[in-house]
Amino acid sequence: FSAKALAGKKLLITAGPTFEAIDPVRGITNLSSGKMGFAIARASQAAGAEVTLVAGPVHVPTPRGVRRIDVQSAQDMLQAVLAHIDGADVFVATAAVADWRPAQAADQKIKKDGSGEVPQLAFVENPDILATVAQLPRAQSGDLYCVGFAAESENLLANAQAKRLRKQIPLLVGNIGPATFGKDDNALLLVDAQGHKELPHASKAVLGEQLVAEIAKRIAR
Ligand code: C5P
Repeated sequence: FSAKALAGKKLLITAGPTFEAIDPVRGITNLSSGKMGFAIARASQAAGAEVTLVAGPVHVPTPRGVRRIDVQSAQDMLQAVLAHIDGADVFVATAAVADWRPAQAADQKIKKDGSGEVPQLAFVENPDILATVAQLPRAQSGDLYCVGFAAESENLLANAQAKRLRKQIPLLVGNIGPATFGKDDNALLLVDAQGHKELPHASKAVLGEQLVAEIAKRIAR
């Protein structure tokens, strides 16, 4: 692991869950801890990169030297990403972005009125942040290297390959093994145009360093 592997490179990383408001005190989120994205941020900073981390609501300390931008919703996250993508060399999307959000967040707390009636929530689809970034001209020309993650419960390799092509990104990283959310360790399956490679079970800190080395290799060639 080289302290210079990413010298002079700018990385933008998303991490954690998003929080989609129902009303001012309630919302929908998921169990993503942000640990994998924060580990990648730490490792790329240590490898010499200038790192901006766009984080949903998480309880993980900010790695030293990393610029962190806190957001709540998928729409906030997309806005923050687009505001900081100019000049980035690598975009790594580890965030577990909510696929849907309540169509309308209520202005006031929704009250239980004693009638036994329950609120009906309607949903709309959230923007796909990774797919949006992957469509930018600098991504399409290869100047902005996009890395996506996938949490698949079955047929990881086939699903990861399909997702890589669907999102039009050069590298897709699959979480091997179930229930990685919140854990301190994982195993990863890297899928790119050349084939696939496994990073065996290890701490997310170690996997972050290994993945950064793999990314550095790919943007150097
Ligand atoms: O399609 P799926 O949600 O499985 O794709 C996962 C990948 O896409 C992850 O890298 C995730 O961060 C990214 N993603 C995103 N915006 C979304 C949904 C997923 O950036 N709305």
